[in-house]
Amino acid sequence: MNQLATRTYNNVQAIVLAAGASSRFKTGTTKLAYPICGQEMILYPLRACNSLQIPITIVVGHQKELVQSIVQRHYSNITFIEQQEQRGTGHAVAMTKQIWSSDHILVMNGDMPLITSELIEAVIHKHHTMQAAITFVTAHTQTEQHGYGRVQEHDGHIKIIEERDLQKKMGEESCCINAGLYLFKREILEQYIHQLTTHNDARAFYLTDIIALASKAKLPVIPITAPFDTIRGVNTLKQLWAVEHIKRSELIEYWMEQGVQFHAPHITHIDFDVTIGAGTSIGAAVQIKAGSRIGNNCTIEAGTDIERSIIADHVIIKPYSIIKDSTINTSAQIGPYAHIRNHSIVGTGSIIGNYVEMSASTIATKTKIKHVSYIGNAQIGSHINIGAGTVICNYNGMIKQTTTIEDHAFIGANNSLVAPLTIGNHAITAAGSTITNQVPAHALAIGRSRQINKEGYAQQLRSTAVSNGTQQTPVPSEP
Ligand code: UD1
Ligand code: CA
Repeated sequence: MNQLATRTYNNVQAIVLAAGASSRFKTGTTKLAYPICGQEMILYPLRACNSLQIPITIVVGHQKELVQSIVQRHYSNITFIEQQEQRGTGHAVAMTKQIWSSDHILVMNGDMPLITSELIEAVIHKHHTMQAAITFVTAHTQTEQHGYGRVQEHDGHIKIIEERDLQKKMGEESCCINAGLYLFKREILEQYIHQLTTHNDARAFYLTDIIALASKAKLPVIPITAPFDTIRGVNTLKQLWAVEHIKRSELIEYWMEQGVQFHAPHITHIDFDVTIGAGTSIGAAVQIKAGSRIGNNCTIEAGTDIERSIIADHVIIKPYSIIKDSTINTSAQIGPYAHIRNHSIVGTGSIIGNYVEMSASTIATKTKIKHVSYIGNAQIGSHINIGAGTVICNYNGMIKQTTTIEDHAFIGANNSLVAPLTIGNHAITAAGSTITNQVPAHALAIGRSRQINKEGYAQQLRSTAVSNGTQQTPVPSEP
């Protein structure tokens, strides 16, 4: 089978249709740019074809720059052909005629993200063994599904009737639908592509009409049935949700099998390009987005959002923390409500507590920043304690500057550390300080005005306020 298959693939090229206007999507942006588990819709059929090393051409049109840029970010070997006016799937395929060079042309809709390379292989295999003129994929739906062409067979003749045309002929409903994946012998496509007409409700050239034309000519037109959940098309946001739900469930079930516990899988979002280590537990409404690597035995609590980040083993992330483009090392603790971003690194065993934001900063091992702080452009050593409410003033309105805090330093609560700044090892800064100058190692820095107590002055202040009429309205006493 493999040898046969390899020989056959060499003779196949793929055309992926991606020029449509996405009018049923109603968002104003092409549906093909919408991510499903972190990967744009157009990339799914490409990935399936590419894994079989089938050369791909994409027909682009509506928002072509956007579609092209998504594709080019991932593939350098895919070519594009423009369909300037979107006059139907048959018209889109006709645009590509100049590049048909293989013996068999695989045509697929760009909006079928659940497609697998196994299904494409099965189509190619059946096409070859049946010596088919056209092989095309069908599926059966139990529930009523909107937007699919229905496959009908009468007296050995097969045809596909688009739903909008079918509605006019009540009673001809069929649960066998057309998937939007076809393999044509090149000469058949060459013969029939220009015989298509626009005599239909949409006044469009339907690629699907070739099935009836070839079948009428008694050519071998072979349907192959696939599970509906591998061929679902996406025309509407509702269908996007259905597809994403399937994909997400697949991913979560996969990670469950690898020993990852999900407390509320139905409201958890895991992207494609993610790995999660065994023994890790994931709370409700957690989102782990593309490019993230989560280690073993981590606890990631509710509402946490992790994107393009590395979380090492035994890390605890408390609820509602956001981690982007950052690294959290072994046994660190984060959150709740922490925000770590912009290439920050948290060292082994360090603790970043609630309402702490870190940007472009590194902290080494066993350092604690436990409450309500902003840490920007800082290099922070190990065994440091940074008191509650500390703000690193890294930005002067023009440039961002660096603050360095060396090992074993102690930053008192409510400090403003004005960059550029170095605080030496074992130094202490007093609570409430504004530190603008370098603090030498082992020094105590106090950067605040001295407190003055004026005995009895409170009463005097109140009487002055009353005589000036500036006293606040008295609070009414309890009845
Ligand atoms: C199509 C099929 C239908 C099938 C369904 C499966 C036709 C006429 N109908 O319907 O039988 O059940 O897919 O999901 O083919 N496109 C272009 N240029 C165009 C029009 C469309 O490139 O002028 C592209 C779209 O971007 C899309 C694909 O072709 O990726 C399919 O077009 P769409 O309008 O979604 O077709 P359906 O109505 O879903
Ligand atoms: Ca479609």
